[in-house]
Amino acid sequence: MKVTTTIRELQAELAAARAAGKTIGLVPTMGALHAGHASLVRRSVAENDVTVVSIFLNPTQFNDARDLERYPRTLDADCAILEDCGAQIAFAPSVAEIYPEPDTRHFSYPPTDVVMEGARRPGHFNGVCQIVSKLFAWVEPDHAYFGEKDFQQIAVIRRMVADLGFKLQIVPCPVVREADGLAMSSRNTLLAPAERAIAPRIYETLVASRYFAQSHSVAQTIQYVVNRINAIQGLCVEYYSIVDGESLLDVRSWDEAPSIVGCITVYCGQKPIRLIDHIRYK
Ligand code: PAF
Repeated sequence: MKVTTTIRELQAELAAARAAGKTIGLVPTMGALHAGHASLVRRSVAENDVTVVSIFLNPTQFNDARDLERYPRTLDADCAILEDCGAQIAFAPSVAEIYPEPDTRHFSYPPTDVVMEGARRPGHFNGVCQIVSKLFAWVEPDHAYFGEKDFQQIAVIRRMVADLGFKLQIVPCPVVREADGLAMSSRNTLLAPAERAIAPRIYETLVASRYFAQSHSVAQTIQYVVNRINAIQGLCVEYYSIVDGESLLDVRSWDEAPSIVGCITVYCGQKPIRLIDHIRYK
């Protein structure tokens, strides 16, 4: 695997592949790779001639400086995982390489980017669109792979792709979970053992809520999830929204949309660590 750190190097590698008519898959990451990322990379390797994985801890999408500071940085281990998955190119640039000047572009895709995470993390999706649009422009992938764990992020990126006319296919990939159900996340390594022990209760409750929802309203199901998780010492729900899987707008009844998804963010432990997850009701 070739590890590139500049846009020039990256594009030189890709020019040869493109001239030879090869298909290109892109997996954007912020590093601290785990089995969830590996599943995206393996899928890209299976579906494209060349797979590029970007490893860039994008500062513009962090609205909380402490969150950025404590985000795990594991470049050597990341490259070993990518080698093992069969990726051809890793792109691990510096902040100065990506943002030689402050990025003043402003992306706005309401209602998709202003509900849930968008409402609680001002500027987050703008930062995501800034970096992802740059990567799409430099790599010009045929396919770009994103984990469905960040359910809202995929919806926002789809809006950006349509808006800017990128000719690529977004490939959403299923959440990869630990054996006890906890959604894999780079932030899980920040959990103390006692926090790690209670974190799976989030998904356990979401799964139980699917059964509960069969005989209860949307409002009652929201209350059920929030009460059950908040009853666990060390967990505190920031929000639980049951939304139309396309528009991401709240629904009030189960027959309001063909696809209905519950999206949750929970604070876990003392620091606290913010964990997100979701479940499909239909
Ligand atoms: O999902 C992530 O890890 C990031 O938001 C992404 C898409 C790599 C952009 O920095």
